[in-house]
Amino acid sequence: MQVAPSILSADFGKLAQEVKAICDGGCDLVHVDVMDGHFVPNLTIGPVVVKSVAKASTKPLDVHLMVENNTFFVDLFAPLKPKYISFHIEEEKHPHRLIQKIRDLGISPAIVLNPHSRSEDLEYIINDLDMVLLMSVNPGFGGQKFIPSVVEKAARLKDLILRKNASALIEVDGGVNDKNVHELKNAGVDIVVAGSYVYGSDDYSKAIKSLQI
Ligand code: DX5
Ligand code: ZN
Repeated sequence: MQVAPSILSADFGKLAQEVKAICDGGCDLVHVDVMDGHFVPNLTIGPVVVKSVAKASTKPLDVHLMVENNTFFVDLFAPLKPKYISFHIEEEKHPHRLIQKIRDLGISPAIVLNPHSRSEDLEYIINDLDMVLLMSVNPGFGGQKFIPSVVEKAARLKDLILRKNASALIEVDGGVNDKNVHELKNAGVDIVVAGSYVYGSDDYSKAIKSLQI
């Protein structure tokens, strides 16, 4: 299991230090939550701050867009060369076009599904994706309770990926900890995002390792 700590739960007063700490702690990716105050009722960081995050990070960035105007934000973050840019399917009229655009920019495209969205709807797009991000909380805030139905959704998505001979990875985001990570692993999940679990612990490295099962 790969681990992508979400910096949403970091101390923003010492952000560079907090990013370095998870990288030194052995994380696989650095998860960056971009919220616009419209798609979700919260507002986070833009490219100016993420540029500093990229500078402090020794690991690839995983940019999770929770915004209304996806294309605008893709253009804004692409120059920072994250490994992944993921966007919500609920907010995009032309997911296939946007996936091609992200790939043409040299970035791995990923689609995010909210807790109510069906993984089956990805049938005709799964082969174009490098990753699918399944929300296990409603997007907008860190520290929420894990929604258990994501486990079945991940297993069904894994079946779809195998049936279509696709190579997309499955990432789960929200309320992940050392207890529920095992059922996620069994369902075929490849990457977990963890915000409050990692940044709320006394030992980031130990918390990260407890998820790398
Ligand atoms: C929620 C964000 C998550 C969040 C995860 O909208 O997408 O990445 O920071 O935080 P925890 O792990 O605390 O649920
Ligand atoms: Zn996220």
